[in-house]
This record gives sequence, C-alpha cells and structure tokens, in this order.
Amino acid sequence: MSPVVVAFVVCMLVACYRIMRIGSRERGVAHGPGTIPILGNLHQVPTTFPHLRFTEWAREYGEIYSLKFGSGTVIVLSSARAIKEVLDIQSMDTSDRPPNLYFDMVTDGWGIFLCRYSNKWRQLRKAAQTLLASSTVKKYIPIQEAEATQLQFDMLLAPENFFDHVYRFSASVILSVTYGKRAPRSETPTAKAFAEINSRWSEFIAPRGTPPTDLQPLLRWIPDRLDPWASESGFFMANVIRDRPSHELTEEQMSMLAGSLYEAGSHTTATYLHGLVLLLATHPDVQAKAFAELDDVVGETRSPTYEDTEGLPYLRALLQEAHRFRVLEPLSIPHRATRDLHYKGHLIPEGATLFGNIHLFDAPEEFNPDRYLLTPHGTRPGVEDGDLRSTLVFGIGRRICPGMHLASASTILAAMKFIWAFQFSPAVDPATGKEVPLDPRAACDGLAVGVPRFACDIRCRSPAKAQIVRRTFQVDAAPTLSAFEYNLAKADKDWLDSVRVLPEEVMC
Ligand code: HEM
Repeated sequence: MSPVVVAFVVCMLVACYRIMRIGSRERGVAHGPGTIPILGNLHQVPTTFPHLRFTEWAREYGEIYSLKFGSGTVIVLSSARAIKEVLDIQSMDTSDRPPNLYFDMVTDGWGIFLCRYSNKWRQLRKAAQTLLASSTVKKYIPIQEAEATQLQFDMLLAPENFFDHVYRFSASVILSVTYGKRAPRSETPTAKAFAEINSRWSEFIAPRGTPPTDLQPLLRWIPDRLDPWASESGFFMANVIRDRPSHELTEEQMSMLAGSLYEAGSHTTATYLHGLVLLLATHPDVQAKAFAELDDVVGETRSPTYEDTEGLPYLRALLQEAHRFRVLEPLSIPHRATRDLHYKGHLIPEGATLFGNIHLFDAPEEFNPDRYLLTPHGTRPGVEDGDLRSTLVFGIGRRICPGMHLASASTILAAMKFIWAFQFSPAVDPATGKEVPLDPRAACDGLAVGVPRFACDIRCRSPAKAQIVRRTFQVDAAPTLSAFEYNLAKADKDWLDSVRVLPEEVMC
C-alpha cells in the first residue's frame, strides 16, 4: 500500500474516531444517563417540558449530573445547595449564556435575555436595573393598581375574554413603565404590534424555534435547500435576518426588538396570571379560603389596594404556591461556565451549559398554598431549608430577573383585585350541561411554560362588588390612567369615552 493511501486511511480513521467521540462525556464530570455517538443525550430530552425528565434523572443521579447535547456538556444542578454554591456564590464564573447563533444574528448580541456575559450585557443590565430597581418600581404602583382596576372592569364587562384582558393588563403595565404610554384595549395598535413581535420572538427563541447549530455545529454546513428552518420563508425572524440590510435597523433598534423588556416581562406576567385563574377554577376550596380572607380584611365597601398586601398572608401564600406549582421557567434560562469549576469533586468544565432545576418540592403534585403558611419556603416543618430563597423562581446569581419587583407588584395587585371581585369555575358545556374538565397542569410549549386558552365561568361575587368595580375604574382610576393616554387611536378614545360613563347595561 502506498504511503499516500496509508496516510489517507489513518486520517479517515482519526476523523471517524473523533466524530464517534462527539457525544461522549469528558473525564471528571458527574455521571448521568448513557450517551450515544454524535447525539449524546439529545435524543432522550423531550422538547416539551424537559424539566420533568430532568427531575426523574435527578432522582437517579443526584443533585449534580451531566448530559451531552452533541459536543456540548450540560450540567444539571438539582438541589438548593448545589444551585447556591455554583450559580449564586460563583456567579462571577457562571453568569454567561450558551451561544445562540441565530439570536446573535438578529440582535448583534444586544438582547439582554440571551446576551453573553460581556460589556454589552453589563450596559443593558445597568439600564434595566435603573428602570426596575425595587426603590424605583414603587413609583409605578399607582399605574399598576389602576391597570389592575381596569382588569377587574374588563372581566366584569366581558368575562369570556379574560385571557385577552390579562394580556392587555400585563402589556399595558410594561408599555406604561417603559414608554409612558398605555394600551387601553387589546386592539390598541401599539399593543397589537408588540404582541405580534413578542409571540414571533418567543417562538424563535423557544427550544425548537431555531436549528440546533449551537449544539451540533456540523448543522451549519447543511445547504439551505435541505434545511427546514431556512426554507420557512414566512417566519418573521427569518425575514428580519434576510432583509436586515434593507431594514437599515440600528443596533439600538434591533436590541429593542429582540431584548426589550416588553418581551421579557409581559408574556411572563400574563402567563403566570392565566395559570392562577386555571388553578382557582380547579381548586374551589383554595378560592373559598382566599375569599374569606379578602372579605374579612377588605370587606364589601371598597376594592383592595396595594396597602392591603401585608394583611393578606393566605393570598401571598397562594401566589407563591402558584409560582411553585406552575413554575414558568422550570430550568431557569441556562447559564454557562466561563472557567473550569468543581462541585463536590465533580468537574464543571469551562463552556458547560448549567441548568438549575428548581422543580423539587415535597408532594409537588398537590396544589396547597397552606405549605407556605407553615414554613417560608413551603418545605415540611423541620426540613433544613437554609439554602432556599423565595426568589428562586426569578432565577439565580447575577442574571436574576431584574423585573421581579415589578412582576411581584403586578401579580399581587391583579390577583387580589380579581379574587376579591369574582368567582372562577370550569365552564359548562351548553350541549351537555356538564362542566368542561380543566387540567391544572395544562401547558403549552415555549420559552416559558404557557397556558393553553381555556373556557372559564367568571361571575361577580355580589352586586355591591360589581358597583365598586365600575366606580373604581370609571372614576377613581381615571386620572392615573389618563396621564398615560396620549396620541391614542380614535377607536381607543371612543372606547374610553363610552366606558368612562356609567353604562346602565353592565350587570353583575
Ligand atoms: C411572573 C413574572 C416573571 C418571571 C417568573 C420571570 C422569571 C425570569 C427568569 C427565571 C429569568 C432568568 C434568570 C436567570 O437567568 O437566572 C428572567 C430573566 C429576565 N427577566 Fe424576568 N420574569 C418575570 C417578569 C419579568 C418582568 C416584568 C420583566 C421586566 C419588565 C422581566 C425582565 C427580565 C429580564 C430583562 C431578564 C434577563 C436578565 C439577564 O439575563 O440579565 N421579567 N426572568
């Protein structure tokens, strides 16, 4: 055999060996489920609700285990201690995000959510924190309260559209805070445009939205005509990438599009509230306890306000339990290690993707707000919970959600107002006369675990309350809301003119 042929065969063998090694675990990392060449564990991870599989593996492999996603290493941390040690205490080295080729193409790396741990991120984060610091967000309470008052009113007027009312509420709060201009209706043009961008963007950055080139770099060389993602010409973000030169969008505009606070904050808040309505409708016993507390503390002669929060421990426990039961970002958004680290002797290699799996509680299948009245973190009394934090649902370390104070105020205001005013039950099918069954865990795919639309019977709890709901929106909240109403579309103005006059036909 000629030396050239021998060299060729050796090169081919080395190349094959290297390719077959893709997907194997490196030495020193924690154990995990068995891998196969090239894919590693990718074939075992469901694209919907991966956290459930991750929790099963945590039971088998413990508080730290590893997975291979193609050539990439994933480390899953599944105890409060491991999460604190690695992602909180060592956050200087664990606050990067995994690279996302398509996200970077669209945003030039300027979207705060998936931005790499860099000077760009520090600039974005500083700006976000200025707007959303706990001391600053206090001044947004009046607009959040007034918006929650409109949410009550919208539910009274058209309870069957509660899903859209909740979207409008959360969008309008963010638009008011970021642009000083609110959205009085779901059809308000600015709100509609943002919602459209938001939903396309969520699809785009959801796990199945883009080709997994970051996990399997070989995919970058697939010709466009064979690439299912490239051939979807109708896809909004694909068009943005394609038409980028003609848009002549500045970096600033692109980052507004991609990483705006609207995208990060409106969908999450709305999804949480949709989930809360679903949990109320499926748990009449919980509702009854919340009614009793609100009626006792607030009474029938006024609508609750932010100042009532302190006096409503059951409501606060209910909101914590709803976060736990229907956790929005179950694995949080992935972090990435920027140097080799160790936890309990296991290597966490530089470049590894880090997931904190916070889906670990006692009797997790039970929706039981009382657990948060027994202990601050909902754990069994006597259990060591020093490493748990009540803000864990908002993420970890330096990337912790900067909008958590705004989100907490929005959710408690909306919840206390709608639970004070309404009773939520499964809808009745007019054909059969039977309740349409609801699944409290019903969920749809996306970056955050979404709630599929569902029908719900929403009834005002008394004529006196209906009267108060009308008055607080039409009279009390009007000055606060109108300060954010300028350059409105004619249809919005007409609608506001019509509803701010007491309509006789609004019945409880
Ligand atoms: C119920 C509502 C919300 C939940 C459950 C939630 C949860 C989260 C989580 C889990 C993260 C990832 C944290 C990490 O990487 O460790 C995050 C990031 C983020 N959230 Fe929220 N969020 C909510 C509302 C909001 C709101 C209202 C805003 C802004 C107005 C907001 C802005 C952001 C931003 C900008 C980031 C990216 C931070 C960074 O990477 O540095 N979020 N959120």
